[in-house]
Amino acid sequence: MRTAICPGSFDPITLGHLDVVRRAAKLFDRVIVLVLSNGEKDRGMFAPRRRLELAKLAVEDLPNVEADLWTGLLADYARQKGACALVKGVRNGTDFDWEDQMAWINRSLAEELETVLLPASPEYSWFSSTMAREMIRYGQDLTKYLPSGVAEEIRKGMG
Ligand code: PNS
Repeated sequence: MRTAICPGSFDPITLGHLDVVRRAAKLFDRVIVLVLSNGEKDRGMFAPRRRLELAKLAVEDLPNVEADLWTGLLADYARQKGACALVKGVRNGTDFDWEDQMAWINRSLAEELETVLLPASPEYSWFSSTMAREMIRYGQDLTKYLPSGVAEEIRKGMG
């Protein structure tokens, strides 16, 4: 059984993230969408548990995908779960430069852990969680950018 982890802040999970998760689910037997939080210092718009709830909602129809929350080192979680890969989407050169560094640090912490970078699908390459948060602040409709259940949940929370 080959397990991969899709790690991130997921504040909140977007259609771009979900696209990467779906593609990872075709490549690996089991995929864990891992919401990472730096505990007390977490300054996200959504509380880590809420981010996890939204991630669970987004992947509920994908049979080999689950979601979890972790406040420690990603490499420790991966080792604990016996994961062989981290899967991340890259939208542009800036993402690549960052993910390249993260891949290096994670591999130096757990040498069996490979990072697989998937190029973002063009329809999602201009969107980010930062933009989603900005749109939420201004009460904009997010149906085109967030998984449908997630957009609906956020709308309910705003009302
Ligand atoms: O959504 P993001 O900003 O791309 O996610 C970055 C994230 C959460 C994947 C990264 O910051 C991370 O892995 N944090 C967990 C702590 C860790 O293992 N850091 C790397 C080694 S110091």
